[in-house]
Amino acid sequence: MLKLDEVHTYYGNSHILQGLSFEVPQGKCVALLGRNGAGKTTTIHSIAGLTPPRKGTITYRGKPVSGLPSYKIARLGIGLVPQGRRIFPSLTIRENLTVPAKDSRQKDKGHKSWDLESVYALFPVLREREHNMGTQLSGGQQQMLAIGRALMTNPQFILMDEPSEGLAPVMIEQVGDIIKKLKETGLSILLVEQNFYLACDAADEVLVMNKGQIVWKGTPGELLANEDIQHQYLGV
Ligand SMILES: Nc1ncnc2c1ncn2[C@@H]1O[C@H](COP(=O)(O)OP(=O)(O)O)[C@@H](O)[C@H]1O
Ligand SMILES: [Mg+2]
Repeated sequence: MLKLDEVHTYYGNSHILQGLSFEVPQGKCVALLGRNGAGKTTTIHSIAGLTPPRKGTITYRGKPVSGLPSYKIARLGIGLVPQGRRIFPSLTIRENLTVPAKDSRQKDKGHKSWDLESVYALFPVLREREHNMGTQLSGGQQQMLAIGRALMTNPQFILMDEPSEGLAPVMIEQVGDIIKKLKETGLSILLVEQNFYLACDAADEVLVMNKGQIVWKGTPGELLANEDIQHQYLGV
């Protein structure tokens, strides 16, 4: 579904992603773990076209996407749930959901097609509060809104950057349940996390990243059993 091959990304002269290669198979959730500064967000931004790689290729459903502007990548069906949620504070919940959906919506056979009704059905609290401003929501509700907003573009693939950041434990568990539900609809997911337990709960495969490279990959079960990797790269 998504494949990175020897991707190198820079900020000016800083060489951040140093030959990154991995794949996300169709219908799977792959978690990308690593300490602060490992290059996780840069990976997401490289895929979404926000910080295009200087070298290497990114292919999505067999077609190269590296080098395309970010709006075109979004239209191909790659949705982004950004780190820090980035909801529009001066818009209502309903507006947050409907404004970005314009133009970028596309339908695809075999995938669930999202609209306001189906997003509200997944997150009933957003319907209850649809006329509230984005800022009047709790952290967990803001995260649901950020996910709902990405769904409104009808992605087949979703990039999630630290959805559990700043949330209470009970909310983090809910985020795990949401990710599993999304997978059941056929979505493929790249989940960036610092929360080791959420990643192991929600993902089919885990990648550990350090200094812009993948240093380990395996199943959640293998990572849970590997205390060396947990200590060395994840600070568990
Ligand atoms: N806009 C930027 N300009 C320069 N350096 C940056 C920028 N954003 C991130 N970095 C650097 O890139 C590295 C990787 O950052 P990032 O991808 O945000 O890591 P993570 O998401 O894993 O915490 C860090 O050393 C960070 O300081
Ligand atoms: Mg980050």
